[in-house]
Amino acid sequence: MGRLFGWLNNIINPHDEEPEAAPEKKTAVPANSRRPVFPECSRPSGDGNIDDADYWWCFEGHPHEDIPLFDIINNDLIIKDIKNNIKTGALPVMEIPDNVIKTLRLLDDPEFSYREVANLIERSPGMAGEFLKITNSSLVSTGTTIHDLKTALPRLGKVKIKSMLYMYSSKASFMHKSVFESLAVDIVEHSYAVGLIAGFLSQRYFANPDVAFFAGLLHDIGKLAILKSIAESYDIPKRSGMMFCEEMFDRIFPELHEKVGLYIAQSWRIEDSVKAAIMHHHDLYISPNDYANTEMVENLCCLINISDTIAKILGKGKSIGAVNIFQEESVNRMHWVKDWSTVEFLGCIPEMMDFKLER
Ligand SMILES: [Fe+2]
Ligand SMILES: [Fe+2]
Repeated sequence: MGRLFGWLNNIINPHDEEPEAAPEKKTAVPANSRRPVFPECSRPSGDGNIDDADYWWCFEGHPHEDIPLFDIINNDLIIKDIKNNIKTGALPVMEIPDNVIKTLRLLDDPEFSYREVANLIERSPGMAGEFLKITNSSLVSTGTTIHDLKTALPRLGKVKIKSMLYMYSSKASFMHKSVFESLAVDIVEHSYAVGLIAGFLSQRYFANPDVAFFAGLLHDIGKLAILKSIAESYDIPKRSGMMFCEEMFDRIFPELHEKVGLYIAQSWRIEDSVKAAIMHHHDLYISPNDYANTEMVENLCCLINISDTIAKILGKGKSIGAVNIFQEESVNRMHWVKDWSTVEFLGCIPEMMDFKLER
């Protein structure tokens, strides 16, 4: 579990290395490889127009790579099996450890106290350590290092604590015993990136940064559940040196991961707006009759959609084709205004991606 939030060490103890020199033009590198390096988003002297081509959000796409086919088992068979298991309720859910369940229940009690929550979390020293790391990270740090969980938890707040408990459980449920471990780390790293970006963008584009972080963290939870299901249902040979990447599941993930994610979120009784973001972060479809606050839910789906794209542009996620975020439907629907203040705001995002999970 030590590696789950290991990237936060990098935020707390950033590398001492000299920053890489920014190239003249933005450089695309393959996803899951080194993070692309982009020029800073500074305002040039004079009152020139904003030219998207000068900035990271106008991305030329990752170069094409030949991806080996996931030919070990039949894609159609996997998709059929998983759809059937969703229908019958037989899809394995992420098991949540008993101590986490107790903590989640306590957090749902309107009268809960952070002291009680801390007492429960402290029973698992690994989990307690991760919470302290997060509290001391750039996500919530106020500049003073906190060593005590009872001080740390109120700073995180109920929603962040819950989202981290779910992520802790889902990753822990199959790490160290799955052929997909490395791919799962990639997906978790992408999920953290999306949570972080969504929380940051909320300063301007969404009212509740905690819910945005929560939805970003869990938006692709269905992918982890699919990997877990495949690993448990099929005998995947551990071919020496074989590395699984997300692109190898390009037929399975797009067809299933939102539905599987929703299935998992329902089993965890996650709140409706986060469930909607899990289900609709790609299609952005929100039925007007399904939610009490349709506008807020649609906004959250759009926020997660664009955070997902930004994470991919910035090298945290699978490869992506040419894209300009200002031409994306989600940005359109959120009515982003492209001015110099927005340029400077968005310019903060690439450096937030300077983290890497331990492998
Ligand atoms: Fe997704
Ligand atoms: Fe994603």
